[in-house]
Amino acid sequence: MNSVANNIEIRSMKIEDTNAMLAIDKEIRAAGKVITYANLTTEYILSAGGKISHRENPTSYADSITGNVAGLLDFSFVATADEQIKGFILGQVARLRQATTELGVIQMIGVHPDYQRKGVGTKLVNALADKCRSQGIKTIRLGIDHRDKSLLSLVEHMGFSVDRLIVYSKVL
Ligand SMILES: CC(C)(COP(=O)(O)OP(=O)(O)OC[C@H]1O[C@@H](n2cnc3c(N)ncnc32)[C@H](O)[C@@H]1OP(=O)(O)O)[C@@H](O)C(=O)NCCC(=O)NCCS
Repeated sequence: MNSVANNIEIRSMKIEDTNAMLAIDKEIRAAGKVITYANLTTEYILSAGGKISHRENPTSYADSITGNVAGLLDFSFVATADEQIKGFILGQVARLRQATTELGVIQMIGVHPDYQRKGVGTKLVNALADKCRSQGIKTIRLGIDHRDKSLLSLVEHMGFSVDRLIVYSKVL
């Protein structure tokens, strides 16, 4: 950690942040290979569940989101430096099969390429962990492509370990 990390502030995500988040998503994709989230864009997550309207002339992406995104906003955070967004984490609450147990899920995390390896990702995951703890949620989960070394390194550095659940798939 260094002085950059000290200047980073973490706050809850607001709907108005979506344009800046999408811009960071684009920068990350332009800077290198996105592995875990290759087929899962921020835009897709924000539009899931019909949250995007088809207003004819939206002035911004945020303007076009009209659905109920409260569940997403409650567990999502942005990292700012001088009030500019430099990273974000999109989180949500999910239920395990035993319907009484809730867990926090990291849907996506992204840090601007110029701000990576400065402790920003750690702060974002910690913010989500704190929120989950405050709600009595005891576990955070995320799916990671095993080739995604940076994301694997981040979560292992933070004490996550491989769960019992393994995803199998078959191409049809
Ligand atoms: C994974 C990611 C979130 C990590 O964020 P970050 O702010 O760089 O992480 P941190 O600085 O908090 O890293 C903490 C520790 O995790 C490990 N780590 C993080 N990135 C690493 C990397 N690329 N290689 C090796 N270890 C890494 C290190 O142990 C690091 O500690 P250190 O820097 O003291 O060695 C960031 O690299 C990222 O945004 N990657 C792209 C993710 C993506 O594809 N998102 C979809 C598009 S939005």
